[in-house]
Parts: sequence; C-alpha cells; structure tokens
Amino acid sequence: MTDLSDIHHAHRTSPSLQATPAAISLRNVSKRFARRNDAPLHVLDEINLDIPHGQVVAILGASGCGKSTLLNLIAGLAHPDEGAILVEGASTAAYTDWRAVGYLFQDDRLLPWRTARDNVCFGLEAGTLPRSQRQTRALQALVAVGLTGFEKAYPHELSGGMRSRVALARSLVNEPRILLLDEPFSKLDPGTRAQMHAELLAIQASRNMTVVFVTHDVEEAIVLADQVVILQPRPGRIREIAPVTLARPRVPAQVEVAELIRQLRVLV
Ligand SMILES: Nc1ncnc2c1ncn2[C@@H]1O[C@H](COP(=O)(O)OP(=O)(O)OP(=O)(O)O)[C@@H](O)[C@H]1O
Ligand SMILES: [Mg+2]
Repeated sequence: MTDLSDIHHAHRTSPSLQATPAAISLRNVSKRFARRNDAPLHVLDEINLDIPHGQVVAILGASGCGKSTLLNLIAGLAHPDEGAILVEGASTAAYTDWRAVGYLFQDDRLLPWRTARDNVCFGLEAGTLPRSQRQTRALQALVAVGLTGFEKAYPHELSGGMRSRVALARSLVNEPRILLLDEPFSKLDPGTRAQMHAELLAIQASRNMTVVFVTHDVEEAIVLADQVVILQPRPGRIREIAPVTLARPRVPAQVEVAELIRQLRVLV
C-alpha cells in the first residue's frame, strides 16, 4: 500500500513538477502569408519544438522553407496563425522581457551613419548604463569577434564578413539569455568561422545561454548544436530532430562527427 507521505515525497522530487519551463516552446505552430491575387502562402505547418534553457539548436532546411520566419515568430516580430509560442513560459504576445532576447538578422541591419562601435552600442541604449560604460562594453564585444582596430569604421568601410561580426557583437553585447542567429557565419572564411564558433560556444557555456541559429551548413550545425532541426519545405514541417551528444570540441575529421554529418546531409 502506498503511504500518503510517499506520494507527497514523489511530488516534491518529480522532475516534471520541478522543471522550469523550456526557454522556447512551439506548439502546433502554423504560419501563412497573404498574397495578392493568390491563395495564402502556407510557410510553416504544425511545428512542435521544445528548446531547454542552455541548449544550442541548429535549424537547417532549403531556401524558402521558413527558417527566418520561425526566428521572427520566436522573437515576437510575427505571430502564428495557429498554435502557440512560449518564451520562458510566456506566450510571445504576453512576454515582456525582450531585452533578454538577442537577434542577429539574416541581413546585418547595421545603421550606416554609425561606426562599428556605435552600432554595437545601439543594443545597450535602452538600458541604464552610462555612455562611457556602454562604449567600453561595445569595444569588448568587438574584440571578442576579432574586430580590434575597426571600432571607428563605418559599415561601408567594412567587408561583408566584418559587418556580420559587428552584427554578432551587437546581438551579444546585452548579454541575452536567449540568442537567435540567422545564418551568422555564412559570410566568413573557414578560419574566421572556426574562431567565431569557438567564441560563441565559450560565451554560450559561460552564461548558459540558449542559442537558436539558422545555417545551411550541416557540418556547422553538428559542430555547434545539441539538437539539429531539419525543416522540409512547402509548407515548412519538421523532417527530423537529431540530438547531438558527442563531446565538444567537435572536429569534422573525427569519425563520429563525420558519420553524423554524412547521415544528416542526406536529409537536408
Ligand atoms: N513578411 C512576409 N510576407 C510575405 N511572404 C513572406 C514574408 N516573409 C517570408 N515570406 C515568404 O515565406 C517563405 C519563407 O521565407 P523565409 O524567409 O522564412 O525562408 P528561409 O527558410 O529563411 O529561406 P533562406 O534560406 O533563403 O533565408 C518564402 O516563400 C517567403 O517569400
Ligand atoms: Mg532566411
């Protein structure tokens, strides 16, 4: 016979009752866009995904399958037609702590009239830090992405890869708990890309940050992520969610890493 105190004890220790909400949850999310003189474009359909705090998740899928739309929905910049999106347990319509969510857009969206440093500062201006501290933080963020010496350059004076690193610094400078990155490394050469991977993972681990990033590169997804989500197009549905449990640092030359890359390439 079960004694009542056992039940109480079981309740206290039950992981489902103790668990904090996932950083991000998508429940049966569908999204359509209206079109002129045409039926609505059904972009995402029945997306279900749970992203625990501190996880790194990669989103892969063909061009146009809805990856950026998915990030916009998580960021509350667009709303689903069906289903619900929860950020730290609150629906995106009700969530208020958006300063805790960093977003690097697919296009870098730098302000052309501001220097690299002042573009990074932009992310801090809604806060209470005095100007001198904002500038110090911005400079540290630029150093972290390898742009020492370019803080006074304007966007038009930077290469595409340098601009994308300014955007990365801007998304990190606020020390977000959740970071959304849309193809953050696509403009970088392999060496710089590997450096940025290491930098991102170090920052992510030190703050237990939740990271969701979009990529077209299966290798990058496996090197960085705890879960790889593969979307299939029209409408975007989840084709596969692949957990990656291999120890870090992961190098594509390692047999297990290479095998996983080979398996997932077939699905993208
Ligand atoms: N605001 C919008 N209004 C109308 N249609 C849109 C809008 N945003 C995206 N779409 C359409 O939704 C589809 C998915 O777009 P999305 O940008 O999410 O794709 P993606 O997977 O990020 O592609 P890529 O890899 O090329 O960046 C596309 O067909 C696009 O034309
Ligand atoms: Mg996109």
